[in-house]
Amino acid sequence: MANINTKFRPKKMDSGFCCNSANIVLIGFMGSGKSSVGALLSRRTRRFLLDCDSLIEQREEMPIAQIFRTQGEPHFRACENEIATWLNANVKNAVISTGGGLPQFVAANILRNLGIIIYLELTFDAILQRMDSKEIAKRPLFSNKDSALELFLKRTPIYASLAHHKINADKEIEVIVDDIINILANKGNI
Ligand code: S3P
Repeated sequence: MANINTKFRPKKMDSGFCCNSANIVLIGFMGSGKSSVGALLSRRTRRFLLDCDSLIEQREEMPIAQIFRTQGEPHFRACENEIATWLNANVKNAVISTGGGLPQFVAANILRNLGIIIYLELTFDAILQRMDSKEIAKRPLFSNKDSALELFLKRTPIYASLAHHKINADKEIEVIVDDIINILANKGNI
């Protein structure tokens, strides 16, 4: 299995711990901050960031909203499955940020095998407050508030059942990242 960080000597973190081989996988509903938390977490833990949505956009050469419009959601879900399987077989020592629907559409054993799963938990109201029209336009499944709430209610138990650790994501990004690092360090996961 390729370790995408093998060329880089593991460095001591600020908190004195050293990175190991496990991926850190961020899950949670749309708008819960997975991409921004992932970006800072990857810097703080000196891991590469792999954002599943960005990988799909790069390969398909179009934004997510256009993939949904022109290829349909089943095609997007097939891409998610391919990405998850590929990451599972090929990537270690990275921060992996997932799309909000990935845990619903990718088999639980593939996801569990991928790494330490962190669920960024937020109420639907808090998510709504973060979603301006620009953010909604990027997310076809958030175009209708009622159906987004239905999805939220359906997925919350899925996220909870997969998570190794749940994090309250209704905080500043820096604080969320500190919380994640502290939990992983305390459990010896990092
Ligand atoms: C989706 C979430 C989106 C993106 C796509 C589908 C979903 O990612 O993968 O629009 O099904 O919840 P974010 O969670 O980053 O918004």
